[in-house]
Formats: sequence, structure tokens, C-alpha cells
Amino acid sequence: MPFYEPGLAELVAEGIAEGRLSFHGSNLEATFESTVVVLAVPTPPGADGSADTGIVEAVAAELAPALGAGAVLVLKSTVPVGTSDRVTAILRDAGSPAVVVSNPEFLAEGTAVEDFFHPSRIVIGTDDEEAAKTMLRLYVHLDAPTLVTDPRSAELVKYGANAHLAMRVSFANEIAALCEAVGADAHQVLLGIGQDPRIGGTYLRPGPGFGGSCLPKDTRALLATAADHGQPLTMVQAAVAVNGDQHRRMLRRIRHAAGGRLADARIAFWGLSFKAGSDDIRESPALALAEAVLDAGGEVTAYDPKAMPVTDHIRRVAHPMEAVKGADVLVVATAWPEFAEADFTEVHDAMRGTTILDLRNTLHPNTIQTAGLTYQGIGKPQR
Ligand code: UDX
Repeated sequence: MPFYEPGLAELVAEGIAEGRLSFHGSNLEATFESTVVVLAVPTPPGADGSADTGIVEAVAAELAPALGAGAVLVLKSTVPVGTSDRVTAILRDAGSPAVVVSNPEFLAEGTAVEDFFHPSRIVIGTDDEEAAKTMLRLYVHLDAPTLVTDPRSAELVKYGANAHLAMRVSFANEIAALCEAVGADAHQVLLGIGQDPRIGGTYLRPGPGFGGSCLPKDTRALLATAADHGQPLTMVQAAVAVNGDQHRRMLRRIRHAAGGRLADARIAFWGLSFKAGSDDIRESPALALAEAVLDAGGEVTAYDPKAMPVTDHIRRVAHPMEAVKGADVLVVATAWPEFAEADFTEVHDAMRGTTILDLRNTLHPNTIQTAGLTYQGIGKPQR
């Protein structure tokens, strides 16, 4: 596989071995005689943050000759509201009677296979009854609530869901900052807040801010759509602004832990990917912080079990202990489970300084303090 995703390599191998999955060098060849064609191509951000649907549209035009009556073209890519209508117009111009269905995907990286087979819901956006039936048949073996709606609503469900998740993370990060200021423990506070079933306990973990290929990009794209329609989304705007603040707050915490100066400070990073379970570094808060430390004149040595930094300036090492050698501060920026199991006496002996800044609250503070190190988490009372 070109990237790390638990269970995916096995699934692909199984599909090939059983003759259910094949790969083709041409889109048309892969499409020929299919009833359902799923488009899952990228929609990269344009200059103003809006999603660029150029690839979706180009591939739809290319496939049109192979999409006859009864065929369904499924838009899996995250596309702005109105894209289904535009793609339908492209097909009609090319003489194809196929129906375009919006069918957003909600899987998260690191749990993609599990999420695909056990989706929280299936959203099907089409005004065509036959196409809706075809889609329901496609997912008949998946047990999940199903929403059949119009294409525009389906498209907006995806952006709305990601915007809401972004707001939750930013909310958790603001509450954590307040906890630090007033001497409360964010873990306890957010646990208590989440115990209200109207709120729910998931997706309230404070950290270095949301990153990855979806939340940052999708919130910006939704804001662009909102601006186009003169309908401001103030709460989503705030979530994005708080996320920027969170990066700056985390950088200040690293500087403070390094004694007030990053120039010539040696900072070890455990974790570079945007979250554990993934090697994806797109919009990774960990990578952004490592780069900010470098920009401020510090030295960065990083360890990540899967992710590779793109920049040459970050020295990436093959073992967590190698990263902490001579470090003034250890920053834990991604919650890989192996980090909590490390030998912190060994970490203590290898470091030059004594502070561990756990940006994911993933380590056991007692183990660290017993090893003679100073533990700092997020949203914990400052000592
Ligand atoms: C997200 C959505 O979860 C998924 O439904 C959608 O299809 C794609 O976007 P993904 O980007 O893979 O998935 O990661 P996710 O687990 O949602 O995390 C996004 C970011 O938020 C990460 O940087 C993560 O560390 C952060 N996060 C998440 C928190 O900081 N705290 C939380 O409680 C949850």
C-alpha cells in the first residue's frame, strides 16, 4: 500500500486473490459495463480555501461514454454543495443518461477499514428512486442507519459533520486552556461534560489542535461556501481561529519548557503524524510545531513509528530513545500507544533537560515523576 492504514493491505490482497478486485491503467477500462461507479478522487483546496472539483469534473467527462442507462455515478469525494448537479450537467452534455448520487464517506484514518464495515450511517443523496434502490442494494450487508435525501443535503451533511467535530475539538482545547488558568483538570471537566447524553463523551480530547487531510480543509471549504452565499458561519470561523491559537499556545508551552528560548534548544518530538494509527502528515499539528521550533532556531530530533517528515531539517531517528538523547525537552505530539510504555528512567538518563510536555495527555504522569522527570500535560493545573 502507498500509505499505512491498519487492515487495508490484507483486505486488498484478499480482494485480488478472490478475483473481486482488479486495477486498470485507464479509467474507462475500469468503468466499462459497471452499474455503480464510485468516484473517490481528490478535491484539493483552491487559493481561497474552497474545494477544487476540477478532477471530479474531468473524470466524470472522461467516463460519460461508458455510463449508460441505469448506471449510477457515485460521488464519494468530499465535494461542495451543488457538485452533484454540476456533474449531472456534464454527463447530460456528453449524452449520458446516468444518475449522479452523492454518497459521502465518514471513515477516519487509522480506523478506515473498521469504519467502512461498521459505518455510523449511510447517506445517499439522489432524487432518483431507482438510483436510491441501487445504492441500498450496494450496502445491503452493512448494518447502519440510512438517510436517503436530496443531493445537496447529502453534500452538506459531510461538511456539517466535519465542522461540528472541529468545533468540539476547539471547544475542548479552550476548556483545557481555561482549566490551566483556574487550576482545574480538563480531563475531569470534559469527562463530566461528556457524561450528559445530550453532549456525549467522545471527540472532546484536548490536544495540539485538529489536523489531517479533512477537518482543516473541510472547515475552510465550508467557510468559502458560506461566504459565497452571504451566510456567515460564525461558530465554524471561531473553531478555525481557536485551532490557530492552539498552535501558538502549544509553541509557547514548548518555549517555556525549554527555559524561555528556543534558539539552540534541543527539542525531541515523539510523533509526527496528525494522529496515532496513521502515517499521514498532512496538516499535522506535530509537524507544524516541529517546523516552528526549527524556524525559531531550535534543533529537532523526531521519532514516529510510521510517519516520515518531508523536510530535511527534522532529524528523524529509528528509535524513541535516540530522539531524546541530549534533548532539553521531550514533546509528545501524537498519541501512539507505545509512548506510554517507554522506559522513562532510560529517557531521564538520555535527556539533557528534565521536562516532558505531553500534548496528548497520553503518558502516565506518576511513572514520569518517579523517573525524576517533570511532567506537563494539556489542561492540567500548572505546577
Ligand atoms: C475526520 C472525521 O472523523 C471523519 O469522519 C471524516 O470522514 C474525515 O475527517 P480524520 O481526519 O481521519 O477523520 O481524523 P479524526 O480522528 O477525526 O481527527 C481529526 C483531528 O482532530 C486529529 O488531528 C485529531 O488528533 C484531532 N482530535 C480528534 C482531537 O484533537 N481531539 C479529539 O477528541 C478528536
